[in-house]
Formats: sequence, structure tokens, C-alpha cells
Amino acid sequence: MSETKKNQMSLEHKACQLTQLNAVYLQKESQAVITGTDEDLGLPKNSVYEMGSALNFMYGGEMSQIQKEYLENSEEKIPLIFMQDVIHGYRTIFPIPLGMGASFDTELVEECARMSAVEAVKNGVQVTFSPMVDLVRDSRWGRVMESTGEDPYLNGEMGKAFIRGYHKGGLACCVKHFAAYGAAEAGRDYNTTDLSWYALREFYLRAYKECLEEKPEMVMSSFNLLNGQPVNANHRLLVDVLRNEWGFDGVLISDYNAVREMMVHGFAEDEKECACIAINNEIDMEMMSATYIKYLPELVKEGKVSESTVDRMLERVLKLKEQTGLFETPYPGVDYEKGKELALSSEHRRIARVAAEKSMVLLKNDGVLPLNKAGKVFVTGPFAEEQGILGSWSCFGKAEEAVSVKMGIEHLLYQEVCRNEREADVIVVCIGESQEQSGEGASRAELKIEQSQIELLKQLRTTQKPIVAVVFGGRAQILTDVEVLSDAILYAWQPGTEGGNAIANILYGNTAPSGKLPISFPRATGQCPIYYNHFNTGRPKGEDDLENVYYNSSYRDVLNAPMYPFGYGLTYTEFSVENLQLSKSVMRQGETLTASIVLKNTGNRDGEEVVQLYLRDCVASMVRPVKELKAYRKVGLEKGAEQTVEFTVTEEMLKFYREDGTFEAEEGRFLLMIGTSSEQVLSKEFYFERESVI
Ligand code: NOJ
Repeated sequence: MSETKKNQMSLEHKACQLTQLNAVYLQKESQAVITGTDEDLGLPKNSVYEMGSALNFMYGGEMSQIQKEYLENSEEKIPLIFMQDVIHGYRTIFPIPLGMGASFDTELVEECARMSAVEAVKNGVQVTFSPMVDLVRDSRWGRVMESTGEDPYLNGEMGKAFIRGYHKGGLACCVKHFAAYGAAEAGRDYNTTDLSWYALREFYLRAYKECLEEKPEMVMSSFNLLNGQPVNANHRLLVDVLRNEWGFDGVLISDYNAVREMMVHGFAEDEKECACIAINNEIDMEMMSATYIKYLPELVKEGKVSESTVDRMLERVLKLKEQTGLFETPYPGVDYEKGKELALSSEHRRIARVAAEKSMVLLKNDGVLPLNKAGKVFVTGPFAEEQGILGSWSCFGKAEEAVSVKMGIEHLLYQEVCRNEREADVIVVCIGESQEQSGEGASRAELKIEQSQIELLKQLRTTQKPIVAVVFGGRAQILTDVEVLSDAILYAWQPGTEGGNAIANILYGNTAPSGKLPISFPRATGQCPIYYNHFNTGRPKGEDDLENVYYNSSYRDVLNAPMYPFGYGLTYTEFSVENLQLSKSVMRQGETLTASIVLKNTGNRDGEEVVQLYLRDCVASMVRPVKELKAYRKVGLEKGAEQTVEFTVTEEMLKFYREDGTFEAEEGRFLLMIGTSSEQVLSKEFYFERESVI
């Protein structure tokens, strides 16, 4: 777009360009879902035809109609940019991001994101509101399903893989929700967060920062209050850290109506003040409220915001439009026919199935799995025939296009399953939570499996037949009763379009399970927040039992340890980790150290293991977590085979944010741990030596 044209734009039109409204405002017949307050936005006449962007249209083909009508009516004729929540697929639905995290497989995540992107672009989407890299330590929070779990390093790796995939598929993307939205108190969505800068820097901010390496076009600021200020008012976070320190120069968008919600928080008096605060924090685009449209011109005239700030914001929005090709054609990449062909094509379904298989975590197996194809199986439980297993935020995915567990098993066996448990040799019980029980605004105060499902398990237990529990969920749930009442547990998350086929393949051993938990599974909801990379406390419990629970950090009624820890997951063979070696006992500044172990497949089948490296800085000027994941490698080994797995430990891995704000590695002892989960590790110490004391 030419400089002259930009300079001639009125303040009113500039404000419109910095605004995003739901597609419903542009097309009356569309049935777009309004997820926030649907109050009359009080838009001035015709302002929708100068608006910068539309979000979440409801059916393919809608984009062209909206764009055409918009351009016919617009004075500026700057094409609209379309953004959509393409979170884990567009029409072909992949497992929820929490499941993707469990795959520990960034190449796979990248490929799923690429496929989502290709489907979305053909249907007129230019930007997806993904990846979400909010760190979550509390599964009560409903949006944990959209995250990749509790670990900053894993979240960063996964976030980057999503971005690479979207970019390969020609889709721009938006890292969200900056910042610390996942730390909502008591796990209740939209609730307050209050975190020290140490906790923010060390845990919560890391993945967003890491993602910027892959150059996402956008970042979304979050709804929550952080340390006493709504995030959208937090200058230190949005300007000092994001823009100045990290150098982010893309488009910063607010979350849905969040600019206006500053009034509800009790931070701004009226919409005008909301606009003033948000513009001065350079929130380039306001989503689903119209405070800029209504008050930006006035604020500039009164000198409360400067026009050069507005121009910088406009510049970023226009640059994004240029990058996404909208100035070459208002319909970049759109090809509805091709889009139809690709969505649910055999290749997209195949990858959706592989992704679902790799996401699932085998939590228990007393030898009943894999099942014998010649045996008779009864498939029961509330989710046995459920096709609504796509998970929240499944965009244009349709339950009727998904494969249920029963369909998957019958398809694999080429025959119908038993009609009752009496005829069966084994019972597969499909339990857990429905896809409506997690997602935005879907927090839970209790993470237990519903009592009726436990009763069903008890009743089936009386048949004395082996029981395999397939558990669906958008979060970690309490599985203590399920563990006692079943012989095997497969955690299936919300697996997406190909869920049932993937489950069948795993249950019958066509594919061995290989997922690892990206989040700790508590024994009791009262343990939340629970996470493996915690601090030691001055009075750690030591032996984790219910004896001697006086004046140490423990509970009287429940163990400290989670039911299943971060990084845990079984497969159909067994692996041993032996012979931990460090290349040196003293690592000097500027040097690296090599740590190696021998991984052996000691079982009877081929399989994959995720070898995990953790570090602990034993004594430091800020207390460091008992362990932190620093690297991992997914290794496939044939039965009986062994392999030496090496990791390079760098100085970067030893660094942390110190009280004075510097990010440094301090001299002293470090404990290095390598293993197959955060609790199953071998360990050795080394010493890090600096050239000068800091
Ligand atoms: C609100 C959600 O918090 C955000 O993740 C999403 O992208 C927007 N709504 C748009 O739908």
C-alpha cells in the first residue's frame, strides 16, 4: 500500500483498521458463535466496512462473500484479514494439543500443523490463533487441553513445531495467551494470576519467548489480571519485555473483548480509558470490542495518545496484510474445491491417525495388552460409541466424520464385537470426560472420574474378565479407582477424527503405544497445582509415605507424589537405561559436556522410548527446581537391541534469571539425571566452573 494513501487515511479509518470483529458483524446471515459478551458494540455507521479484520467465520465459502461485499462498500478498499481458531485441525481434526504434547514428537506436530494450515488457507483463512503455549500446572483449568502441558522446555519445542508447520502450509499464526493465562488461581478460567517475576521469567514466559525464534506474525495478550494489573495494561510485560527486550515487531492483538473488560476488572473508568491504555501499550489490534473505533480519534486530538504510535500500529497491521498476500489478491490461496479435496483425504486422515496413536499414553498394563485378534471383545462405557471425541476448538471438524472406539475395533477385526460381557474374553471400557467438559470456560473443581463410571467398572469386575480402560479427557484426571479396577489403562485424550482407529491399532498391537505424560496426573484434586519441576522446600518429606507426616511438607491423607508423573508412559516392550557416563566431572565456562547412557530394549517387541535429560542446580543464588527437563530424544529400538544415547549439556542449559535480572550460569554443583520419566532416572553430579565469580 502506498505511503501517500496511508498518510491520507483519517483517524477514524485508522481506528477501524486496528479493530477485529466477529464475521457475524459483516454478514448478517452467518451464524458465527459469539463467545464473549454480545452487547451492542455501538459501531458508527459504515465503520464495519473499514474494519481491519474478521474472526471465525462459520462455513467455507463465506470468506469470499464477505470480502467481496466489504470491498464493494469500503472507501479505503484495504482487504480484510481473516483469522480463525484453527487449533488442532481445520476439518481433519488431530488430537488436542495436550495429546500432541504427549507425543514428544515435534516433526509429527509440525506435519499436523502444516496440514491444518493447507486446509485453512484454501478456505480463506490467513491467520490462525495458535499455538497456545501457556504453561499449566493445574488440570482444573479447562484450557489445559489447548496447552502442551507443564514444562517450559516442552512447550517451547512444541510451540515452535506448530509455527514451522503453519508457515510451511502458508498460514500466518499467533502465539497466545501472553502472559501466564494458564496460571489462573484455583484453575478457574479467566481468574486472577499473581506471580513473582522470577516465576514468570523462569517458567511462564519461556515458551512464548522461545516461539519468537520461529517468527510468528502475531502474539495475543491474555484476559487475566497479572500482579494487580490487567495484562492489557501491563506496560512492563507488553512493551518492556515483549517489544523492547525480545524485539517482537509483529502484530499484538488483544483477546476477545479483553480491552473493554479492563472496566470490569476495576482498572479503567470507561471505554475511552480502556482505549487509551491499550493504545499506549501498542496493542495493535483490538478483538471484539470497539473502543478504538469510538475513541481513538478523540484521544489523538486530546494528546492522550500520539499519532505516531497509532501509525506504528497501523504499519504493523498493514505489513501483515502484505505478508499474507492480501494486497496481491484479496483472496490469497483460496481454492474451495481443492480445500474440499484435501479435508479428510486419505493422507490427512492417515496423519491424524498416526498423531492420535502417538499421543496416547499407556498408564498401566498387567499383560492384557496387546489384545488377541482371535479373542472376543465387549466394548462398553459411555464413550464406546461416542463420535464426539474431537475435543474443544475443533474448528470445522464434525463428530459424524470421526471414528468411535467401537467402529475402530470392528473395522480392525472385520466383524462386530460381542453384544454382552458374558460372551467376551476381554472387556474394553470407554470412560472419562466428554469433550464439552474441557475447553474455554470449562474448568472443573473436581478431577475424579464420574461415580457412575466407577460403578460400571466395579460391576464389570465381578465377571472376573480382564478389563481394559480407555480413558478420554482434555486434562489429567484422578485415576486412583480406575487403576485398582482395571488391568490396563490407555489414556486417549480427545484424539480427533481418527480416534477410534488409533485406539484399535494400539489395543491390538498394530502400533505400540509411545506417548509420555506432558502433565502430572494427581492422586487427589487437592494436590493441584502439582508439577514435577517444583522446589525442594526446607522440610521435604523424604520417603513419600503417610508415616511421620509431622512438621514436614506433606499431607496427612495423600502422598506427595502424583499418581503418574510427568514424562511417564509404558509401551509393549521394556527398556532399561544403564551406564550413565559424563565426559568430564568439571565443565568450564564456554565448554560443553557429553552425557551418555545405554538404552536397551529388554522386552519381547520392538518399541520406542523417550529418553529424558533433567538438570538440577544444587546450590544457587535463587533456589532452583529439583529437576528440569533440558533435552529429550525419542529412540526406536528392535527387541533385544541397545543403543548409546548421547546428550550435549551446554552452558545455556545451566542459566537462570538472577535477582539482578541477568541470565547466567553460576559456578557450583549440578545434578544430571537421565531416564524414562521424571521419576525413573539415573543421576551423576558435575561441577560448573566459571572464569570469574558473579
Ligand atoms: C478467546 C480465546 O481466549 C482465544 O484463545 C481465541 O483465539 C479467541 N477467543 C478468538 O476466538
